[in-house]
Amino acid sequence: MAIDGNKWQSKVRSDFPILSTKVYNKPLVYFDNAATTQKPKQVIRAITDYYEKENCNIHRGVHFLSVKATEAYEDARCAIRDFIHAKHAHEIIFTRGTTEAVNLVADSFGKKFIAEGDEVITSVMEHHSNFVPWQQMCLERKATLRFIPLLEDCSLDIPAFRELITEKTRLVAITHISNVLGTINPVKEIIALAHLSNIPVLIDGAQGVAHMTVDVQDLDPDFYCFSGHKMYAPMGIGVLYGKEKWLEEMPPYQMGGEMIKDVFFTHTTFNELPFKFEAGTPNVEGVLGLHAAIRYIHETGMDQIEVYEKELLDYATQRLLGIEGLKIYGTSPHKASLISFLLHNVHPYDAGMIIDKMGVAVRTGHHCAMPLMEYLKIPGTIRASFAFYNTKEEIDRLVEAVEKAKEMLS
Ligand code: ALA
Repeated sequence: MAIDGNKWQSKVRSDFPILSTKVYNKPLVYFDNAATTQKPKQVIRAITDYYEKENCNIHRGVHFLSVKATEAYEDARCAIRDFIHAKHAHEIIFTRGTTEAVNLVADSFGKKFIAEGDEVITSVMEHHSNFVPWQQMCLERKATLRFIPLLEDCSLDIPAFRELITEKTRLVAITHISNVLGTINPVKEIIALAHLSNIPVLIDGAQGVAHMTVDVQDLDPDFYCFSGHKMYAPMGIGVLYGKEKWLEEMPPYQMGGEMIKDVFFTHTTFNELPFKFEAGTPNVEGVLGLHAAIRYIHETGMDQIEVYEKELLDYATQRLLGIEGLKIYGTSPHKASLISFLLHNVHPYDAGMIIDKMGVAVRTGHHCAMPLMEYLKIPGTIRASFAFYNTKEEIDRLVEAVEKAKEMLS
């Protein structure tokens, strides 16, 4: 089904106030959606409504506002359960973002289940947030971190992954979608393979949830992590989904606040799930903003989002490949709506500066994936990442800006 871009545009663009901003006197073209998405006014309004009408600490008071804010917070947890099709609301843990969610599992799962000589498998395409926590945990526990290599099109080498699984493997941690390459990994297959050997799998879903329907009961990961700010919600809020059986067994990550049941001079008992992993006063505004973003995604329609973003990806790929000397990194047939590329003999930072002056926001550099840059033997890339509020006319502006950069720099 092809979507009428103009109709789509008029429906959604007016919801995102920032899209009418001008930079350098030109209409902003925002293609840095993999770093953070813009926020619709429905999300902004949910946050201001909270502060104007309901602001209160939660789970602590019996007064009207506290009860109301607590209900709104727990309703959001149920909405997130439904959004990712989890079985239980208590399998949804609020964190500051994907990074904290991965750190929580690396720390807590590591303490309980990883010992000297054990192995953890990740891949060479990981974001630092799903790489450094495992690297450091393995160093601390004298375990070994193993890496799945890539095929020519920058998809994961699944036969090599099979070879890496041994009786020493304790966990697999893989990204759903690469923030650099756009590759959509076959996570269902990876999880099924790992489960054949009873190995749990963590999926970094930071780039996943905003672009496709995620069903954790169907994919069957043991942990799935994501951030609000990459799915039209505020920064500083994220989610760790964890299967009940693991979360029950894992020790708390941080101490204090709602994660406590009883404190004695000699010891402390901990609260039940999900509170056991939510220390301190939570980010209520972030949770309510995330709930509003989920409502917005539902209203817009995830199926439509997927179809339209694929159209944008195909159009941008075809237009960019028309530029001589431009190379795209990440050509897997299963790809999300982002493109990393380089111009022959042009440093990505230099190109990025010129593209920016043309009013087009792209990201340049290593994209928090330095091991991947080392693996690909490149200094970084120029990355354009699209969201459903972008248009083909904006892609034309990108192509114009890249051509300008090429003309000036090569
Ligand atoms: N992880 C974010 C990105 O890829 C910051 O840009």
